[in-house]
Amino acid sequence: MIVDGAVAIVTGGSGGIGSALAQRLLEHGASVVVTDLDADHVAATVASLEAVGAGRVVGLAGDCSVEVHVQALIDLAAQRFGPVDLYAANAGVGLGQGLESSESDWGASIAVNVLAHVRAARLLTPGWLERGRGYFLSTASAAGLLTQIGSPTYAVTKHAAVAFAEWMSVTYGSRGIVVSCLCPMGVNTAMLSSGTDSDDETARLGAKAVTQAGGVLEPLEVADVVVKAIGEETFLILPHPEVLEYYRRKGSDYDRWLAGMRRYQDTLA
Ligand SMILES: NC(=O)c1ccc[n+]([C@@H]2O[C@H](COP(=O)([O-])OP(=O)(O)OC[C@H]3O[C@@H](n4cnc5c(N)ncnc54)[C@H](O)[C@@H]3O)[C@@H](O)[C@H]2O)c1
Repeated sequence: MIVDGAVAIVTGGSGGIGSALAQRLLEHGASVVVTDLDADHVAATVASLEAVGAGRVVGLAGDCSVEVHVQALIDLAAQRFGPVDLYAANAGVGLGQGLESSESDWGASIAVNVLAHVRAARLLTPGWLERGRGYFLSTASAAGLLTQIGSPTYAVTKHAAVAFAEWMSVTYGSRGIVVSCLCPMGVNTAMLSSGTDSDDETARLGAKAVTQAGGVLEPLEVADVVVKAIGEETFLILPHPEVLEYYRRKGSDYDRWLAGMRRYQDTLA
């Protein structure tokens, strides 16, 4: 997809990867609707992004896992810029450690990390099929291909996000809908530091597992990789290329990979 002139929505757009992605999309000529939970943060993000794409960025605060909010984002984009070309389902939560993860951790993780993607796709797909084009960008995680040490809620819901992105691509890829799935390891954002700085030992262990497995990238570095991948319409976006090797090892010998993960976990304690 050509980013120049495209109309995009970015969820989690006040956060690390989301605001960096919004910035890069604007720099490449797109118009962007930014959404996140906190109205003040959204307003501040839009104000700073105005410097990059004056008149091409607007914000609307709300919960992207709620269908009426997603519809409001689509309507706002249409009214200000035109029909949505690219939906970046980027918002995510890292809630819950171990089997002690609460029902509410599970519920929120499923809502934001998975159902938010499903609800947006449900609203956008009919229009995309009619136009014969549309781009669904899912921010999952390397945890969605491998696992997340410490957090079953994160590991499971990110696998589900990858599975949903795959399903979208298989089902609609021959009818003009392009799907990409972003699967980074460590990125220097509030989500990663909430793990490294946590009082919870399992959360710290999980963050250490991420930071020791590969380099920690800056959000703008990730956004650069994403914008390039959108141009090339690549499904799997791996800002940390070593993830592909880990994923191959998992696929080629699952038991060996599991044993290696257990050994790796033991080294972190
Ligand atoms: N930082 C990493 O190391 C890393 C690695 C792999 C994947 N990811 C994924 O990248 C995405 C972006 O995370 P980040 O690292 O930029 O962290 P972040 O915490 O800076 O950004 C996440 C943003 O999502 C927003 N959000 C959460 N729930 C929302 C909801 N219901 N509606 C709207 N916005 C909501 C948060 O307010 C926050 O601004 C997430 O999906 C995360 O799981 C991050």
